[in-house]
Amino acid sequence: MFETELTRTLKIRYPIFQAPMAGGPTTPDLVAAVSNAGGLGSLGTGYLAPEQLRSAIQKVRQLTDRPFGVNLFVPEQTIESEKTIGQMTDYLNKYRVELGIAQNPSILKVSESFEEQVQVLLEEKIPVFSFTFGIPPQDVLQAMKQCGTFVIGTATTVEEAKQLEAAGVDAIVAQGSEAGGHRGTFLKNGSDSLIGTMALVPQIADHVSIPVIASGGIMDGRGLVASLTLGAAAVQMGTAFLACPESGAHATYKQKILSANEDDTEITRAYSGKAARGIRTKFMNDMHRYPGTIPPYPIQNAMTRDIRQAAAKVNNPEYMSLWAGQGLRLANDHSAAAIVKQTMNQANILVKRIANLGMIDN
Ligand SMILES: Cc1cc2nc3c(=O)[nH]c(=O)nc-3n(C[C@H](O)[C@H](O)[C@H](O)COP(=O)(O)O)c2cc1C
Repeated sequence: MFETELTRTLKIRYPIFQAPMAGGPTTPDLVAAVSNAGGLGSLGTGYLAPEQLRSAIQKVRQLTDRPFGVNLFVPEQTIESEKTIGQMTDYLNKYRVELGIAQNPSILKVSESFEEQVQVLLEEKIPVFSFTFGIPPQDVLQAMKQCGTFVIGTATTVEEAKQLEAAGVDAIVAQGSEAGGHRGTFLKNGSDSLIGTMALVPQIADHVSIPVIASGGIMDGRGLVASLTLGAAAVQMGTAFLACPESGAHATYKQKILSANEDDTEITRAYSGKAARGIRTKFMNDMHRYPGTIPPYPIQNAMTRDIRQAAAKVNNPEYMSLWAGQGLRLANDHSAAAIVKQTMNQANILVKRIANLGMIDN
């Protein structure tokens, strides 16, 4: 019943994509569990070094023979003045003192090499490549296609979707403002393109001729049926899988996901320098009062890494980044396979109920 052109092309049973979530949640176990359950699992590998990336792909292949995706961050050219970086370092030192870690750490690398990451993906000939934060160069997109890889871009506005289609991607993730994690916005400021999923999906679907994957706030069969009705060919669910046993999210983070409410998230640049939605923390609140300029991504991301890691070690959620979408009250800790199954069962029941409503009205 839920076969779409996209599920046929990708040879998956259900139109459910598990969102790639860089930073730990999307373990090979999670990705394989979703793919084995009939959806499309995806590794979020934006922060991985090339060899870590290769090993994650190989682990997924050991666990499933089903299609899966791998996601990267399109790099941005960013520079920041020594003064701004110095001020932020000074400001962040108070957290380092509190957490008992070294002050003024030297940052050797702000991000991994996109070119080297792409090289691994080409060598591994992955089934699906998705990306966010921009559009990769044409030679990368062409090389992926020559490997037989299906390519998916991320848009937060109609204009971004049109540019992705013109660049030759095969499908588009329409990321609504409810979504957890970083905004994929690349034409404007991330905080200026906050269009809700309900409004974004049909407008993108009307303006592109390739499949649209709805993302942001979709947690169950209700979200799936609504998205398909709005013109999507599939959904991409992130927060829904964060607290499942296969997710690599920290235990304290999982607990927060399971106990937080729909009004507990906020979009912030505090942790990474790029707009992202997460559960409100003391660090986010403090940063509202920061008198200077927050350096852009990926500089700020690299500058707060030691603090986030030290906080995780002592189970202190207030200084960790707790990325989550607005649907988080609907999250549960069921297995990934159960989440896929429950979503499909609920969607099946809903479609029948809606069909019956039609019969009564006529
Ligand atoms: C913890 C977390 C990490 C994320 N990391 C990525 C990522 O690496 N790449 C990406 O394209 N999207 C990433 N996203 C965004 C998701 O792809 C997706 O847009 C979002 O999860 C959908 O909203 P939902 O969380 O309400 O389901 C992340 C989301 C979360 C919650």
